Amino acid sequence: MASSLKRALSDDDSKANPDLMTLVPLTQIPPEDVELLLDAAFGADRHGRTAYRIRENMPFLPELSFAALDGDTLMGTIQAWPARVADATGADPITLVGPVAVLPEAQGKGIGKALMARLLDAADAGAADAMVMIGDPEYYSRFFGFTAEATAGWDVPGPVERHRLLARVRRAGGLRSQGLLGPDPDFASRAAAA
Ligand SMILES: CC(C)(COP(=O)(O)OP(=O)(O)OC[C@H]1O[C@@H](n2cnc3c(N)ncnc32)[C@H](O)[C@@H]1OP(=O)(O)O)[C@@H](O)C(=O)NCCC(=O)NCCS
Repeated sequence: MASSLKRALSDDDSKANPDLMTLVPLTQIPPEDVELLLDAAFGADRHGRTAYRIRENMPFLPELSFAALDGDTLMGTIQAWPARVADATGADPITLVGPVAVLPEAQGKGIGKALMARLLDAADAGAADAMVMIGDPEYYSRFFGFTAEATAGWDVPGPVERHRLLARVRRAGGLRSQGLLGPDPDFASRAAAA
């Protein structure tokens, strides 16, 4: 079992069995299973959310997307996507994090923290130096260092509660303070060139 998950899982009466839990790349999970989990966590009407517009037509980033398994059962997922903040002068690439989702009956047992810790480990190892997400600051600021300060001047392609538009930026020089957050159409060519 991944050590970060072992640390994060509590030994209480969870339906999740910590001894069987493991974190794996999301590429190992059938996409239809991920969709069912997301429906369970967010409801089937989730596709209209602003976050979906920010990553419209983008592929998820395999190096930053993971699943939590209890045996063969999918308990949680985290995904990340190529995005950018753009204005008339250019664009700064940024990674959109989310959704983070845990099966309703397994929430509050440390699975969300473990998935985020795994993503942040990969990010800090070089996979992403700037990340943005829409989420509860009471969770993502408190535990993971995301804040709304850097996003205050960004436009988004849909409604958002500003205090829930959160960023975690480790890039030298930061990102432009104003611009439109959206999909990164140059992602494929930049990845091919890397
Ligand atoms: C939000 C979510 C991913 C958290 O994962 P989890 O496995 O349930 O949470 P963890 O066990 O890792 O963390 C539990 C701690 O986080 C807190 N917490 C969990 N969700 C929270 C939220 N939305 N706001 C504030 N605090 C939250 C709990 O109170 C608990 O705090 P404590 O350690 O002081 O007791 C999960 O509950 C979920 O899938 N919710 C529905 C979908 C969603 O809202 N996703 C987030 C938006 S992308």
